[in-house]
Amino acid sequence: MAGLPRLRGQRKIMRASVVLVVILLLDVIAKSILPTRMEPSAIGALDAVLGATSLPSCSLILLADGITSPSTILKAVSSEGSSPRGVTVMEVTAAEDGQDGNVTLAMLSHLVDLARQVRLSSWCVRVVVVSHDPAFLVAFAESSLKGRLLVWATRLLVVTSLTLPQLYALLPAHWTFSMMNTIFLNLEKTPSNVRASVYIYLPYSQAGAQVVRIASWSPDRGLQLLTELQLSAEKYDDFQGATIPVTALPYPPYWVEEEHQTANGTTVRIYSGTDGELLNSVARALNFTFITLQIASWVEAVDKVVERESFMAPVYHTVLPQRLERFDMTYTYEYSFLAFGMKKPGLKPRWQSLYYPLANQVWAAVLALLLVTPIIVLMVIRLGERRDAGSRTGAGDVVQHMTGMLVGQNLPRRLPTTSSSRLLVGAWLVFAFIIGTVYRGNLTAHLTLPKYPPRPETVEELVEVVDRVTRPPYGAAYKDFFLGSENEVFQKLGELLFIGPKVLEGLQQALKHNQAVIEGRRYLEQIIAENFSQPDGSTELYVGRQHILPGLAAWPIPHDSPYRPQIDLSIMAVIEAGLYEKWSSDQMAKARRQSSRRQREYLAQQQQQASEKGTRIGKMIMALTLAHMQGPLMLLLLGLALAGISFAIEIASVMHLLSSE
Ligand SMILES: *[C@@H]1O[C@H](CO)[C@@H](O)[C@H](O)[C@H]1NC(C)=O
Ligand SMILES: *[C@@H]1O[C@H](CO)[C@@H](O)[C@H](O)[C@H]1NC(C)=O
Repeated sequence: MAGLPRLRGQRKIMRASVVLVVILLLDVIAKSILPTRMEPSAIGALDAVLGATSLPSCSLILLADGITSPSTILKAVSSEGSSPRGVTVMEVTAAEDGQDGNVTLAMLSHLVDLARQVRLSSWCVRVVVVSHDPAFLVAFAESSLKGRLLVWATRLLVVTSLTLPQLYALLPAHWTFSMMNTIFLNLEKTPSNVRASVYIYLPYSQAGAQVVRIASWSPDRGLQLLTELQLSAEKYDDFQGATIPVTALPYPPYWVEEEHQTANGTTVRIYSGTDGELLNSVARALNFTFITLQIASWVEAVDKVVERESFMAPVYHTVLPQRLERFDMTYTYEYSFLAFGMKKPGLKPRWQSLYYPLANQVWAAVLALLLVTPIIVLMVIRLGERRDAGSRTGAGDVVQHMTGMLVGQNLPRRLPTTSSSRLLVGAWLVFAFIIGTVYRGNLTAHLTLPKYPPRPETVEELVEVVDRVTRPPYGAAYKDFFLGSENEVFQKLGELLFIGPKVLEGLQQALKHNQAVIEGRRYLEQIIAENFSQPDGSTELYVGRQHILPGLAAWPIPHDSPYRPQIDLSIMAVIEAGLYEKWSSDQMAKARRQSSRRQREYLAQQQQQASEKGTRIGKMIMALTLAHMQGPLMLLLLGLALAGISFAIEIASVMHLLSSE
């Protein structure tokens, strides 16, 4: 078992009916005699501090460095004042000869993992670490941070005996001690009796970041508070005007950065956009200012959050399980609709444009009437002609006349004289008038508002059509997310997904190749409107109607950030007041105003250029292109070809007649 941590569990306190006793028993071989440096009277101090900071229903995790005997400490926690519901005792065996700090660290991180499981299965946990060795405390600070042992609600009590310079150096140097809910009980060795002091580190106090001695303990006077602060002081209700580092990059309409010149010549950076306003409000509520760290990409922005260099990345990020493995998210304040953008399918030249204005049935009915009516008219005319017995009207003439009337070309020069045939021709004229008018009207509409081919509007259609889907590097988590999905469409999307080009580049590529860009809907629409709008307001790109992924968005924040509850509360207050929606609509109105102003300026510029050159603004007038007019041209060619063929046949028959004579 060498190298493994030894855990010694002691079933001690079983008071209430519901008792959570977690015993971790890896090594039951008890050490015979433990060297103890903890004075018996110090137990009184520990007892007093635990009693003042712990709820009786909390369980306790006790971690000792193997030099201090846990059994002496257990005496403290079992006495009346602080009686917890359950105790987990863990001990890292003292570094023996030949063992180095790395081994201790390995043991510690294993213990921290176990302790975390205890914390996750308990309602409320206090952690007590006992060690007089600064190196052990440093190792604990690192491994507890890495192992995610502590959250703000888990209070950490470090029982130690350090000199003041050691203490003042140790507390600010480690996130676990400076930022988390940690108090130090430092046993002072005085010749007469043991006294103890309680220290905490306040990162944001009126006097700046400082170590504060908030209480003292002595056997005769007990625990005495020395400041207005309680032992369980909140650290993040008021940042006292401190400067907080955050990481963000411009991402309209969420994050907009503008530089303003002040009266005295310096430039200040103003952050607006919906998330910018939100952070401004949070900063006002918690009394801090923020600076944005120099970063090159969104990937770096999030990396800085993971490394705790940045307190948050205060811009819209969709919550994904893959992301939560690296960092936490604040309160989700916004729905995130992931959409795709791609090129509108072009208008292909199509001869059918002549055919579209009428439905199939109408065409069929017209054709049928064109066949039947001349026959009836011919019969009526022939019946009339038999009485006068003049020259007979030919069938070809009648068909030609009727067709001519239908397309509005001519009236028969010699009108039939019988009233029945006149009525028939009259009815045909009315019919031709209506059909002709309707067709012409509809044809105009179809030519000017052409029928575009169907385009993908849903994810299913998208994955069938495109060769590739792109997403900027900060969306890398999506590839794993889609590939890990059980949904076939998402899996296919994951295979097509290529992480690389920025949104603008991706859209430019999408104009040339058969690919699409996936991005948040609002941002995508904004980028397309800003960069791909033509002066008449139309674009070559469109955003698919379906949301690929309806999700929630929040800000990345380091794992187990102690200040998260305060940030969350402020965000919630803003959302409840409806301010976020207001900023959002303000932002959209502003963008619309700006873009229409830009377009007006562009138009004015174009007109000026055109008038300088003395040309008309050709582009502004929509001309009908070959794509529109292919139908009639093809019809004419077809007619010419048919006429040519029949001409050839006629010539041939004439030649045949001549040669036979
Ligand atoms: C601990 O490990 C690191 C690298 O993992 C190594 O550089 C260092 O020398 C080790 N320390 C000791 C005392 O062996
Ligand atoms: C913010 O902090 C500063 C510095 O401590 C303080 O002077 C100021 O009163 C605080 N403002 C508010 C609103 O609490």
